Amino acid sequence: MTPSDLIKQLFLSFNSKDDEAFLCAAREYIEREKRKKHNIVARELEKALYDANVSKNSVAERRFKSSMPIPRDTEKGFPLLEIKHFDDNWENLILTQSTKKQLEQVVKEFKDADILVTYNLNYKKKVLLCGKPGTGKTFSAQVISSILHIPLIYIRFDAIISSYLGETATNLRKVFDYIENGTWIVLFDEFNIIGKNRDDSHEHGEIKRVVNNFLQMLDNFNGSSIILAATNHQYMLDPAIWRRFDDVIYYELPDAKTREKLFERYLRPMKRDNDIDIINAAKKTEKFSPSDIKMIAEEAMKLAIIDSRNSLSMPDLMAAIDKFIKREKVKQNTVEDE
Ligand SMILES: Nc1ncnc2c1ncn2[C@@H]1O[C@H](COP(=O)(O)OP(=O)(O)OP(=O)(O)O)[C@@H](O)[C@H]1O
Ligand SMILES: [Mg+2]
Repeated sequence: MTPSDLIKQLFLSFNSKDDEAFLCAAREYIEREKRKKHNIVARELEKALYDANVSKNSVAERRFKSSMPIPRDTEKGFPLLEIKHFDDNWENLILTQSTKKQLEQVVKEFKDADILVTYNLNYKKKVLLCGKPGTGKTFSAQVISSILHIPLIYIRFDAIISSYLGETATNLRKVFDYIENGTWIVLFDEFNIIGKNRDDSHEHGEIKRVVNNFLQMLDNFNGSSIILAATNHQYMLDPAIWRRFDDVIYYELPDAKTREKLFERYLRPMKRDNDIDIINAAKKTEKFSPSDIKMIAEEAMKLAIIDSRNSLSMPDLMAAIDKFIKREKVKQNTVEDE
């Protein structure tokens, strides 16, 4: 292999996130430097490759973390968490300015944690994301993980809990032990369980115990990660829960301007007729979530495609919107029989 082949191999393995191939090519490169008696260069490269302190995101550290066994449920053996890698950016996350600002601050504080510490201040370690379904809570965790180049640990809170209430404390302990051993963006998703069972007094007692358990572990958490918890039951936010989080970010339904941006974003893949009226589309979709608008845009594009057109027409868009308005009515049981 020529030196340029080796560099190409490095780039390719980086691109496909193949750590094994990357390390193999990197080691080969270092060996060659040693053979050429470039000892100082070889030592520098070795340090950059293996020393976990060089960078929080170094390949060496990521390998260390993923080489630990993923905790599993004792009874059924299912994994209690998933490690995921994402590649997204801020531009794809369309939020009202104040929500976005809050999120950006979480990221900035994490990046500047070293400076904050010199003032005896901590970055926001525990953040609660709440708001209506489909407004981008789960998506935000993915974007933060992408921007910081830190893998996302995804934990479905309700899955840990619902199956064996008795096992829950053990499961939670295992999860916290795991996350305290590395640097991650941790998402406890579908935290909704807390709100869901409010009316059921028996269940409520159990759930309350579990939640207290979780909050205690959260209180004692001292890792170097960011912990996010997401729920669409914001009414469950009593002060005891609020207090535990360093910040609470509320995801509103998008206003008209934000809905326009969402249509622009999700209609981007297709050419459009000149008379497409995004402002009108935004007007007609009040109270729709970003996720609904994404589905409308996809539906509209499909209507054009299956009609063998390569340009989106206004009737396509209006038909998709009408379909969703009807769907909402079915959901709310207010549809009138024709
Ligand atoms: N603010 C947003 N900007 C751009 N796209 C969005 C936004 N919110 C949602 N989406 C799109 O909708 C999809 C679903 O959203 P997401 O799963 O993040 O919603 P959620 O708030 O977690 O909802 P739930 O409360 O039901 O879990 C996302 O993957 C993304 O494609
Ligand atoms: Mg979600």
